[in-house]
Amino acid sequence: MTNSDIAKLLIDYGAVQDPTEITPLYRAVEGLNPKTILEVGVEGGGTLKLWSTLLGSDGLLVGVDMAPTYRWIDEDTDCERLFIQGNSQEEATIDKVRSVVYDRGVDFLFIDADHTQEGVTRDYNNYSPLVRPGGIIGFHDINDNCGVKQFWTALDAHKYEFINRIGIGFIVKEEK
Ligand SMILES: C[S@@+](CC[C@H](N)C(=O)[O-])C[C@H]1O[C@@H](n2cnc3c(N)ncnc32)[C@H](O)[C@@H]1O
Repeated sequence: MTNSDIAKLLIDYGAVQDPTEITPLYRAVEGLNPKTILEVGVEGGGTLKLWSTLLGSDGLLVGVDMAPTYRWIDEDTDCERLFIQGNSQEEATIDKVRSVVYDRGVDFLFIDADHTQEGVTRDYNNYSPLVRPGGIIGFHDINDNCGVKQFWTALDAHKYEFINRIGIGFIVKEEK
């Protein structure tokens, strides 16, 4: 995907994302040659569609949302896709996600669901253990007037941030 393909896809699939913020994250994930991607907070599926372009036929794309408006479910993608409907913070949802990714390790986790500081902290604590060492954990809205900004500021990690408007940030999970 060229940078202009990324910008076009975001518009076509209704993702409220600034291409100058999300493209550096896309490139970092592309560099991992990912096989398993998990997004928490899918809504219309714009960013989920973007991540799908990074996965081949051996790839697994998992989306979680309590009230999705995801419309491209029937479109072809190279990768296997799985959508889990539920509150990301509930044990039943976490268990379902764990059961589908447990033997793979998540290469990339994108958190864009509950934007309160408590909510994003819970999603981070519940889903980041599923990410393999060297994998990437990304967040939207790190510069917005919401709890994600407080979460991001408090997060004790080496942080990469791209801020033109409301901001994208990511961290790389430490190799043990
Ligand atoms: C900002 S939208 C996601 C946008 C999407 N990532 C994109 O950029 O195309 C946030 C989504 O998170 C979902 N959400 C909020 N809190 C949630 C929770 N506790 N569990 C599951 N989904 C949640 C909402 O239903 C909404 O669809």
